[in-house]
Amino acid sequence: MSIPYGHQSINDDDVRAVVESLSSDWLTMGPRVAEFENAIAAVANTSGAVAVTSGTAALHTAYAAMQLEADADVIVSPLTFVATASTAILSGAKVRFADVHEDTGNIDPEIVGSMATPQTRVIAAVDYAGHPADLDELAVIARKSGALLLEDAAHSIGSLYRGRAVGEIADVTTFSFFPTKNLTSAEGGAVVSTDNEFLEHARSFRSHGLVRDKVQQRYPDEGPWHQEVHQLGLNYRLPDVLSALGTSQISRLQQFKASRTRVFSRYVEGLNDLDGITLPTQRDYVDPMWHLFPVRIHDGRRREVFDFLRAHGVLVQVNYIPAYWHPYFEDLGYKRGMCPVAERYYSEEISLPMFAGLGTSDQDRVIELVRAALSDN
Ligand SMILES: Cc1ncc(COP(=O)(O)O)c(C=O)c1O
Repeated sequence: MSIPYGHQSINDDDVRAVVESLSSDWLTMGPRVAEFENAIAAVANTSGAVAVTSGTAALHTAYAAMQLEADADVIVSPLTFVATASTAILSGAKVRFADVHEDTGNIDPEIVGSMATPQTRVIAAVDYAGHPADLDELAVIARKSGALLLEDAAHSIGSLYRGRAVGEIADVTTFSFFPTKNLTSAEGGAVVSTDNEFLEHARSFRSHGLVRDKVQQRYPDEGPWHQEVHQLGLNYRLPDVLSALGTSQISRLQQFKASRTRVFSRYVEGLNDLDGITLPTQRDYVDPMWHLFPVRIHDGRRREVFDFLRAHGVLVQVNYIPAYWHPYFEDLGYKRGMCPVAERYYSEEISLPMFAGLGTSDQDRVIELVRAALSDN
């Protein structure tokens, strides 16, 4: 049997919640959406949350809520899934990539500080593998340059940064609920903020910018059916059926975190003494909910170790090819070599299996195989 790098944990409560929602009056736009949003806001310690159809939709909605001007630029981490950058471009921004820290893989505030200009509207950090970025330092740079801080927390719902919840620190934070993530709604995502204005914009963008409140309408006497569009948006509404799954899942978030922490510690114990590999770093002021277990394989042996593990049924992954290496960015003139630390990180990285339901015997098999791969010279 093969061992995936990530997998959802679905139990009978999840199944019951989805089945109940299916036999209710609401498949979408019903009460289960607000219920899920309240649960997300409680975890993120924010005044609200806007549930959307994916982490990508959440990023697109977040950039829309931050109202980028035509000449705006956005500084983005290159060590991320392409959506962090592509949704900024879809929102009309020019994207510039700032290199990452060697140890955490998170965007380096010193480099961001040296790149920020009056045109910089957003600094987009990614909590790589679940480890929060340097949020306080980035917030100071953002404030100084008149920019906003966006935290792509696709990996890190449930993590704490200096005792504060991921979600309550950046101006706007986004989550993904894809099946491999810390909790799932099958597909899904959310935008959170402590600023109600961003939340209102996000809510409007999620649903075509439709205005149903008569007080806000330009032509309220048109008739009871009337609704108006004051600004453009899309349909990024998360259905009730998926919200029901999300609410059931989020109630077990602390259990998932404890399991992921156990998996993390067992890897550290089992691989700590090995040469030729670097294990993930944890800064002492963060309490991460680990989404990935990213190791770095030295001496140009990443491909060989990756192939060995795959051949033995361990379905490891690589996260991530630097975003600007994608041909779309290359065709726009982004050059390899631009962020050498992220490129080196990518060239050495392998994500070992990490999920709440990973059993100890499967994990020990992974450990044995990594040891075998590295001792086999
Ligand atoms: C860092 C990061 N940002 C954004 C996304 C996009 O999330 P989704 O797959 O839910 O659209 C992902 C998911 O892969 C991600 O890992």
